[in-house]
Amino acid sequence: MEVTNRYITIKAHIDGAPKESDFELKDAALPLRVDPDTNLVIVKNLYVSIDPYQLNRLKSFSSSQTAINFAAGVTPGEGIDAYGVGKVVVSGNPEFEKDDLVVGLISWGDYTVVKPGVLLRKFDPLGLPLSYQVGILGFSGLTAYAGLFDICKPKKGEKVFVSAASGSVGNLVGQYAKLFGCYVVGSAGSKEKVAILKEKLGFDDAFNYKEETDLKATLKRYFPDGIDIYFDNVGAEMQEAAVANMKAFGRVAVCGVISEYTDTGKRAAPDMLDVVYKRIKIQGFLAADHMNVYQDFLQKTCDQLSTGKIQALEDISDGVESIPSAFVGLFRGDNIGKKIVRIALE
Ligand SMILES: NC(=O)c1ccc[n+]([C@@H]2O[C@H](COP(=O)([O-])OP(=O)(O)OC[C@H]3O[C@@H](n4cnc5c(N)ncnc54)[C@H](OP(=O)(O)O)[C@@H]3O)[C@@H](O)[C@H]2O)c1
Repeated sequence: MEVTNRYITIKAHIDGAPKESDFELKDAALPLRVDPDTNLVIVKNLYVSIDPYQLNRLKSFSSSQTAINFAAGVTPGEGIDAYGVGKVVVSGNPEFEKDDLVVGLISWGDYTVVKPGVLLRKFDPLGLPLSYQVGILGFSGLTAYAGLFDICKPKKGEKVFVSAASGSVGNLVGQYAKLFGCYVVGSAGSKEKVAILKEKLGFDDAFNYKEETDLKATLKRYFPDGIDIYFDNVGAEMQEAAVANMKAFGRVAVCGVISEYTDTGKRAAPDMLDVVYKRIKIQGFLAADHMNVYQDFLQKTCDQLSTGKIQALEDISDGVESIPSAFVGLFRGDNIGKKIVRIALE
């Protein structure tokens, strides 16, 4: 049997803010068979993750492209791999059977031919929505958990500030920090997002950074006694303002710097005298280096989900063709929670 595999690619490298017209939907015939000795697995994609870091892969150059395999540059015209959930259609790999549910590196398309050695594992959905594997129980969740607990090492009662707080990682950082016993303030880009943080997710406070003209003064207002932990998702001016408001021995986890991804000239320049004299630790991290806490993270998060203590905030669009607008929307702040594209129903 043969199917038509529709997939998303870029027409040319994207150096700046992405536009939907930078992408194209291609298709190719895909025979649904593999030779038994190839170890190839053909997966029907069900849910794919839409992540800001992909933009750095789509540029003609980014230092991130050579740092770690999953961030490798993408060649225009070729398929784009992405984390996601799928179902095995055909397997030439003894570890997988037809109809196995799998999570791992699939692609922004209808089907993925997964080569041996590529991250792919079977999973038990434990009665939870399959989409959770892409967000709250996937890398977004692990990023929030490892960044907060491994990098920032919170203490009960500490004051935590998180930017892009209604996004996939940010909303979970805030929820974990609240459950742990911290005081949490988030920033987000709209009134609606601010209301969700305060009314639905239990943040102590939140503000719309787009309405503020002096971020240093804004943070002083929300943290008159200073910030213990800043979980940075955006970089640039917000990082500078947070560092200016940190307490002595404050910790900054640099998770991502999305405001710098679309503008190569933009950089955070925190005051280094603050860093020295307040003995602030600023540390970048990648979730992939924290697989040692994965089981702990999974167990705790599943427990918190089952008792309703934590909420999965998801933003799901449908169909391969919606991937470009879903992706471009990340940089316009369109998404509320984890951006996911549902490629097919199970
Ligand atoms: N280190 C790691 O292992 C790791 C893993 C996953 C993600 N990350 C990073 O974590 C950050 C959040 O990722 P995510 O997947 O959770 O995405 P996300 O927050 O769900 O989506 C991106 C959000 O960023 C905000 N944003 C976009 N442009 C902005 C700008 N110029 N200034 C300020 N905010 C802007 C938007 O919300 P607003 O409406 O609030 O502007 C948007 O909704 C990103 O920097 C990403 O690269 C790092």
